Amino acid sequence: MPLAPEIDLRAATNAISDVIQNRPLPLRMFDQIYMKAGDMVVQSQIVARWADKKRLAFIGDGDGISICVPLLKARGILGCGPTEVMVYDFDERICSAVERFADQERLESVHATLYNCIDAFPGPNHFDCFYTNPPWGASNGGESVCVFMERGMEAVSYAGEGLVVIADDAELQWPQQVLGRVQQFAIESGFFVQEMMPRMHLYHLDDAPNLRSCNLLIKSLPEPRKARASRAVTDAKRLENFYGRGSTPHVRYIREMKRLEYGKAHEDEYSLDLYK
Ligand SMILES: C[S@@+](CC[C@H](N)C(=O)[O-])C[C@H]1O[C@@H](n2cnc3c(N)ncnc32)[C@H](O)[C@@H]1O
Repeated sequence: MPLAPEIDLRAATNAISDVIQNRPLPLRMFDQIYMKAGDMVVQSQIVARWADKKRLAFIGDGDGISICVPLLKARGILGCGPTEVMVYDFDERICSAVERFADQERLESVHATLYNCIDAFPGPNHFDCFYTNPPWGASNGGESVCVFMERGMEAVSYAGEGLVVIADDAELQWPQQVLGRVQQFAIESGFFVQEMMPRMHLYHLDDAPNLRSCNLLIKSLPEPRKARASRAVTDAKRLENFYGRGSTPHVRYIREMKRLEYGKAHEDEYSLDLYK
């Protein structure tokens, strides 16, 4: 990918800051671990150029890249971006945050739908490309990454491109094993690896603050595989240790408790000591 053109960094960071302010707090038990703000600016620029004039599906997106990219374009900070964005996530708080923000900022081509990637993919399957930052598969050899990728491949009907964000660390064995497995899965599925951008992003991850992720870009082969009907994941082996050791998924959806004011401290977070 060619070098990114210069952008107004202050305006871009302020836009990303608006997205961050709108995000729900992450639930660590489901691997919701948010990317750091500076890396979101760079990532949004990369995704905007990669998905320029394309229809883009996000398989999960707690970070909010699905919103950052169209927002930077709408505010004139970037000159490119996708024509349509759809987020598939099992957390209703995330889907509502995307819909609410898109509505507020009049990003008409951005939508979100409640979906658990263990279930059959609901469609539509007309996307040109998909993006996923899945559970990184430290305890399942990358199988959780493959489940998310499979849904992305279905979203593009096995004819398109994908950007997979996964762990990348030369000191640890498991990220390298996962990277190997994921590339093998891409090839078995009729895709090839176009590019790998190593050690790109850092996260708000207190027990491993230096663990980075890379961008793995894949593309379907010139004669794409014939798309099959999507099926739910029923093989229990594929779901073992999905979110980490001992955590087989048992939650279909995370439901949102509706609040009146988003982005503001809630009453149960504090109490007031009054002057007599
Ligand atoms: C697994 S997290 C990975 C960390 C990433 N930095 C983030 O928080 O966006 C990515 C997204 O996948 C979503 N997710 C987790 N399990 C899912 C599932 N079974 N089906 C659909 N989305 C899921 C989470 O809600 C989150 O938004």
